[in-house]
Amino acid sequence: MNCRELTLTLWVLIFVSTTESSCTSRPHITAVEGEPFYLKYCSSSHAHAIEANTGRWQKSSGSQKRVELNPSSSPRLCLQDHALEFWPVELNDMGSYFFQMGNHTQEWNLNVIRRNKHSCFTEKQVTSKAVRVKKFLQITCENSYYQKLVNSTSLYKNCKKLLENKENPMIKKNAEFEDQGYYSCVHFLHHDGKLFNITKTFNITVLGDSGYIVPVLLGSKLNHVAVELGKDVSLNCSALLNQKDILYWMYDNGSDLNVHEEKEIRIMTSEGRWHASKALRIENVAEHNLNFAYNCTVTSTGGTDTKSFILVRKAMADIPGHIFTRGMIIAVLALVAVVCLVTVCVIYRVDLVLFYRHLMRRDETLTGNTRNSGISYLTLSVRNQINRHKS
Ligand SMILES: *[C@@H]1O[C@H](CO)[C@@H](O)[C@H](O)[C@H]1NC(C)=O
Ligand SMILES: *[C@@H]1O[C@H](CO)[C@@H](O)[C@H](O)[C@H]1NC(C)=O
Ligand SMILES: *[C@@H]1O[C@H](CO)[C@@H](O)[C@H](O)[C@H]1NC(C)=O
Ligand SMILES: *[C@@H]1O[C@H](CO)[C@@H](O)[C@H](O)[C@H]1NC(C)=O
Ligand SMILES: *[C@@H]1O[C@H](CO)[C@@H](O)[C@H](O)[C@H]1NC(C)=O
Ligand SMILES: *[C@@H]1O[C@H](CO)[C@@H](O)[C@H](O)[C@H]1NC(C)=O
Ligand SMILES: *[C@@H]1O[C@H](CO)[C@@H](O)[C@H](O)[C@H]1NC(C)=O
Repeated sequence: MNCRELTLTLWVLIFVSTTESSCTSRPHITAVEGEPFYLKYCSSSHAHAIEANTGRWQKSSGSQKRVELNPSSSPRLCLQDHALEFWPVELNDMGSYFFQMGNHTQEWNLNVIRRNKHSCFTEKQVTSKAVRVKKFLQITCENSYYQKLVNSTSLYKNCKKLLENKENPMIKKNAEFEDQGYYSCVHFLHHDGKLFNITKTFNITVLGDSGYIVPVLLGSKLNHVAVELGKDVSLNCSALLNQKDILYWMYDNGSDLNVHEEKEIRIMTSEGRWHASKALRIENVAEHNLNFAYNCTVTSTGGTDTKSFILVRKAMADIPGHIFTRGMIIAVLALVAVVCLVTVCVIYRVDLVLFYRHLMRRDETLTGNTRNSGISYLTLSVRNQINRHKS
């Protein structure tokens, strides 16, 4: 490669990077009213070789004929070499634009939409981007055409300012679900002593991990559940699975009329995986529900996983709750009865003694009346003692 060829190659490269990158190649374009806007001719290398630099700009709106545009057409229009600038673009700029150079013509259809006055961006003018969670997310605020005129740029997320006054604000990170939202790059620029802004908004959607996982049921594979006959029991089966995997219960539903499947609950975890749980409710547990495997299975294209629940009769070794309380109540009642009895005995102890003596006397009357006076004396002394004690 000689020197001339190298220079030519470099010239082409520079030309491509500076001119072609910001030319307007799409034939249908939408702009937002009030923003600086431009149309730029995408010159073919052939046209450039002709070196015919003088191009013509024309406009037609509706059924009108093409009208030649010149610098005096509108104070907002600025005719540059190969570019037509609007400072700013307004609703009445809608129409078809033509650029003619030699026998080459490029045509654009320009649609101008209203600015959303209640938001920092216009919904119809967003660029949607989807990124998978944990994958690289980059948002760069750039505007190659107005680069030299941009005074400052701010980056907003859902209309809240994130970064300000940076030359080219950008975000570089691994995507998380919280990153989802509308990111608006607002470039501020001066022209003819007026401040303008250009807004570019990205609608970022964070998608769940596409990575397939082998589904697993949580917990041990075999579960013995102790139950009492006549009670209700709920068997909970949960799994970590892919969105399309199926979680189901297997049991003989013909004879198990007291067995009901609950609705499945599915939630997306913070890592973008799915967590599902489905409970099996057995009402009024009967003998035929015992020692039978209630199986829960998760199936996927990549395999299945099963876990079994077996109901067993609750061992009687440990006292069931209600029997314990009943026993406690009986014990307390017995204690209260004893205390009452003792109290009654203390209060009526004299009468009891008398009653006892009475019984004894009757015994003695049967055997003989010898110690009668002695007993009467004893009774008197007990009474005196009590009276003394009371006072
Ligand atoms: C951008 O300019 C428009 C007027 O063209 C104005 O309504 C809007 O508030 C400006 N945005 C910001 C962020 O200054
Ligand atoms: C363009 O016009 C020139 C004459 O002005 C002609 O020689 C050339 O063939 C034309 N090119 C095409 C692609 O029509
Ligand atoms: C942003 O992207 C989401 C998800 O793709 C979509 O549902 C929503 O309609 C988009 N918003 C706009 C304003 O285009
Ligand atoms: C940006 O604008 C401010 C005033 O609005 C001015 O002081 C500053 O020099 C400008 N910066 C550039 C780089 O044009
Ligand atoms: C089942 O267990 C999972 C956790 O393992 C829980 O998130 C879910 O709420 C439980 N469901 C029922 C019905 O108990
Ligand atoms: C048993 O399950 C099958 C399939 O799920 C269902 O079609 C049938 O009606 C069920 N039978 C009873 C008695 O619940
Ligand atoms: C439940 O699973 C066990 C072990 O995987 C199996 O032996 C049994 O046949 C299964 N029962 C039903 C009703 O599918």
